Amino acid sequence: MTIDAQALGDELLARVDAAGDLKALDEVRVEALGKKGRITAEMKTLGSLDPEARKAAGQALNAVKDRVAEAIEARKGTLELAEMNAKLAGDRVDVSLPPRPGQMGRLHPISQTLDEIVAIFGEMGFSVAEGPDIDDDFHNFTALNMPPEHPARQMHDTFYMADENGDVDMSTVLRTHTSTVQIRTMEKQKPPIKIIAPGRTYRSDSDMTHTPMFHQVEALVVDKKTHFGHLKGCLQDFCSAYFEVEDVPLRFRPSYFPFTEPSAEVDIGCNRKDGGLTIGHKGDDGDGWLEILGSGMVNPKVLTMSGVDPEEYQGFAFGMGIERIAMLKYGIPDLRTFFDADLRWLKHYGFVPLEAASLVRGLTP
Ligand code: DAH
Repeated sequence: MTIDAQALGDELLARVDAAGDLKALDEVRVEALGKKGRITAEMKTLGSLDPEARKAAGQALNAVKDRVAEAIEARKGTLELAEMNAKLAGDRVDVSLPPRPGQMGRLHPISQTLDEIVAIFGEMGFSVAEGPDIDDDFHNFTALNMPPEHPARQMHDTFYMADENGDVDMSTVLRTHTSTVQIRTMEKQKPPIKIIAPGRTYRSDSDMTHTPMFHQVEALVVDKKTHFGHLKGCLQDFCSAYFEVEDVPLRFRPSYFPFTEPSAEVDIGCNRKDGGLTIGHKGDDGDGWLEILGSGMVNPKVLTMSGVDPEEYQGFAFGMGIERIAMLKYGIPDLRTFFDADLRWLKHYGFVPLEAASLVRGLTP
């Protein structure tokens, strides 16, 4: 018996081309190349041939096998792409449709809080600045007056990036705070500067009050005559507007941050009566304090390193945790629940998205 490898190849290739979907293609693959397939069956007949003919037929069959395998791979790629495109076309949703009754999505409390913060500072004349989540050592530490070996670096539980060999690259970090954006803003913008920088920050820390990713908002004001009184007034106005309580008591406690001098941590007055927590002191019924942020006058060294002349300009800055102030305002007890993606939680704490936060119309919808 002689083998017509050419005819077999042509037939199998035609079958591969005709396979209309991945299932049909797999059937062709099994029939052509499988253990009980056509090519294997032909291979088994080689033993009956004389050595010369066996060699030639064997080579021809192997060539057919390779061609068919190659054609199957190519056809597979085409079919997979077609299947994915069909699925994408079928999955398309019209995002402009109104929500179905009872099915409206909710704004996450972090988004709501961010909108509120932007609305309040926007009204005060701040603009929003941004910087990268993956930043370099200079912007996260050195330019903020934390040179290599500075002990304050240890407070940050930094996530370092890996280089292309998978080794730790100490020069690239997931930013540990939004203070990086202070530097980036001063590098590209001449004072006067008046920005807030909300965004994600990262630290290798996880418990009831810490998650590896969290949000902060940074503020930076730089001008010729900026002073501590401006910082105080700005925070007073912000806290009263945000907590929707007139004259929230604020307490400035001396503190230390490498990037500010002098530095202060700021507490807001609260009342912990009857197991609840309310913001503000009413009459003499409360004397509790809660820390909400760090602040201070920008260290002249930081101005210099960012290209701003400290002889001519001075500024204030502060940074606060967004989850923290969202928890305080909305009575959310556990930080980790922000990131559980639990629909029941979102239904309970989420916000109807159709009302934008604004000082005029009200912050909380
Ligand atoms: N970057 C500080 C932190 O993450 C917060 C902070 C403190 C920011 C004081 C500031 C500041 O701008 O002046 O803990």
